[in-house]
Amino acid sequence: MSPYIPRNVIIKYSKPGELVLDYFCGAGTTAVECELLGRKCIAIDINDKAIELAKKNINFSVESQQLTFVNKESHLEVYEPELKVGDARDLSFLQDNSIDLICAHPPYANIIHYTDSKEGDLSFFDIDDFLKEMTKVAKESFRVLKPGRQCAILIGDTRRKKHVIPLGFKLINVYLDAGFKLRELVIKRQHNCKTTGFWYANSIKYNFLLLAHEYLPIFEKPKTHFPLSVRERRIDYGRVVPTLEKPPLKRNLDGVETTTVWIFPEKDFEERLNKNVIDRYSNRGGYSIITFVSNSKNGMDFTKRNTQKGKELLFIKSPFLSSNPSNLNVEQYLKETKEIVNRELPSINKSGFLVIQTQDVRVNRYIEPLAKRLVDMLTFDNLWLKEIVVVTQEGANLSPLSSTEYLRIVHQYLLVYEVRK
Ligand SMILES: C[S@@+](CC[C@H](N)C(=O)[O-])C[C@H]1O[C@@H](n2cnc3c(N)ncnc32)[C@H](O)[C@@H]1O
Repeated sequence: MSPYIPRNVIIKYSKPGELVLDYFCGAGTTAVECELLGRKCIAIDINDKAIELAKKNINFSVESQQLTFVNKESHLEVYEPELKVGDARDLSFLQDNSIDLICAHPPYANIIHYTDSKEGDLSFFDIDDFLKEMTKVAKESFRVLKPGRQCAILIGDTRRKKHVIPLGFKLINVYLDAGFKLRELVIKRQHNCKTTGFWYANSIKYNFLLLAHEYLPIFEKPKTHFPLSVRERRIDYGRVVPTLEKPPLKRNLDGVETTTVWIFPEKDFEERLNKNVIDRYSNRGGYSIITFVSNSKNGMDFTKRNTQKGKELLFIKSPFLSSNPSNLNVEQYLKETKEIVNRELPSINKSGFLVIQTQDVRVNRYIEPLAKRLVDMLTFDNLWLKEIVVVTQEGANLSPLSSTEYLRIVHQYLLVYEVRK
């Protein structure tokens, strides 16, 4: 884990002297950052060798003065992290409501093994069993965390048979089911993703993208039960088709994006995005695009639906999401999307694609993770999730930070489904 992850999380969600827990300690990255930032830390790992290594890694000396320089905060004390062998599923050595922040990085099911099959090592559980074990971890996390405080978990997706397995979204569900709210859903880019060699060649040959992002959900244990907003705006969504002219196309993957993170300049963002979707997922232009628009917002009329049969690609866009929808809007959007998919699916060819462009939104204080909600919802037998792509504008994360305590949402998603008949 890059030290920047615990570092940013610790600075944003804790104060000097507070207690941070990492129950998947590994080499001790969180513990080292806690030591540098003047936070107390308890870190456990199932693997005694990891704990030994972590103990070596925290063995450095920092002067209080150095800490002050790093933190721009005065009177920082140095606390030695408490490191020990333990199991994240059983935190009984910790009292209820005793931890100020959790920051942890679990195994990604059984993609990489961390021990020689040590009893309790979650990196030996396949996806469903891994998630089942993680429900115990999430439950314990909820118990030990103080109300109103945060739990940050770094997790990535995996791939089977050239299709993505949304491990990140599935793990988010596990924590939500334990009672957490989703305060932020941060995307972490992976910069070491190779665009050469074996995997790159295969990704072109078999038309899949190289996984280049991970998720950093920041969960919050609510202080009290959070009341629903009383005033819900009601918006009707029309459907406008088609929005794009058909460019002459032949599937040519040269020059299209090859990883799961697409970054385009602001000025031709939508065009570049559309072109990449169409180039990659449609061969000869047999596609149609459905755009959801908010009627009340920009007064667009209903346009007759494109009834073309035998599509290779159906692309559903929903630009209204950026205008602060309410809970009711969110539910309505999901319902309408499902209806469109139900209605249009028969007109997509076998091995054709359904692509949905969507975005997380903040409703009241918490994130409504719409991409995850759609993935949860679209469980049709003949739809097979192929890709989760993250799309963002160049420099979007560089503009000045807003002064609020919440992060700006600067990314969208493309959910790519393959149609099986
Ligand atoms: C992704 S690594 C953590 C890496 C760590 N963030 C770092 O920077 O070194 C996951 C860790 O979880 C540990 N682990 C697996 N099952 C566990 C369990 N039941 N309880 C605690 N740790 C466990 C593994 O031994 C491994 O060190």
